[in-house]
Amino acid sequence: MGKISDALEKHKKETVLKTERAPVAPEVAKTAQIPSSPLSHVHAPTKYDPKLVVLSAPDSMDAENFKILRSQILFPKEGKKPRVIMVTSALPGEGKTFVASNLAASIALGFNEYVLLVDCDFRRPSVHKMLGISLVAGLYDHLIHKLPLRDVIVKTGYGKLSVIPAGSPSPNPSELIASQMMRDFLEDVRNRYDDRYIVIDATPAQVTAEANVLSQYVDGILFVIMAERAPREAIHRSIENIGKEKILGIVFNGYNQSYRGYTKYYKKYYKEYGG
Ligand SMILES: Nc1ncnc2c1ncn2[C@@H]1O[C@H](COP(=O)(O)OP(=O)(O)OP(=O)(O)O)[C@@H](O)[C@H]1O
Ligand SMILES: [Mg+2]
Repeated sequence: MGKISDALEKHKKETVLKTERAPVAPEVAKTAQIPSSPLSHVHAPTKYDPKLVVLSAPDSMDAENFKILRSQILFPKEGKKPRVIMVTSALPGEGKTFVASNLAASIALGFNEYVLLVDCDFRRPSVHKMLGISLVAGLYDHLIHKLPLRDVIVKTGYGKLSVIPAGSPSPNPSELIASQMMRDFLEDVRNRYDDRYIVIDATPAQVTAEANVLSQYVDGILFVIMAERAPREAIHRSIENIGKEKILGIVFNGYNQSYRGYTKYYKKYYKEYGG
């Protein structure tokens, strides 16, 4: 206990120190101009959220845990490597965006892997905030305004990480995610970028329809559980709905705002969790 709290305390200090130094974005690759979009100003990332711990605190315990998760995905003990991975949870606010963004960045900082992180949460889009990208066109604009893919992909300059933000607000998120356009989009990115991992930040499975729909089109699902947040019943129902077969693992997010600190991640297979 002592050791763990010491480590957490130390990590908190490390994080604060790194944050105080204000993360400086590297030179960022240019994105194309988008004249026809309602969001016509493309901003390259300037300052990412310090909670992107794999960048802000690369030596921290959290960053290390994302490396472990990365290796479990890149080198699965059995079966094929999943290339299209969705991150979801039972309820809102359990850390999906935190996990999706850090995992995507962690994979993209490796030697070989290219990663495309796609914000499929039209309800509370936040991948762009994590990555420090403001007001850009994104998935919505590709699907509805027919902007070419290349115009909605933001090269972050952080390793080999590209992002498709959610883009303009969608008035009907579940219909859009369930549409043929969305299915075609996922097929397109899967085939067109066959050398990269695609990480999808999705909505919570218990309170929206989108995660259940998306689960049909992905290779694997990471299910995030925040300590003391979702009741066990809600977790079980969500996993039943999205389908156990595709669950790659469960990420236990020990973070709790009342502790105001970071805690450790664990990854366990669903069968170990008792499903
Ligand atoms: N392990 C963690 N360490 C530090 N902060 C965390 C951690 N997990 C989550 N958070 C913070 O908690 C808040 C909720 O996390 P996040 O936005 O990732 O959840 P979410 O599941 O994507 O929420 P939503 O359902 O609204 O999309 C954010 O401010 C995030 O930065
Ligand atoms: Mg989110």
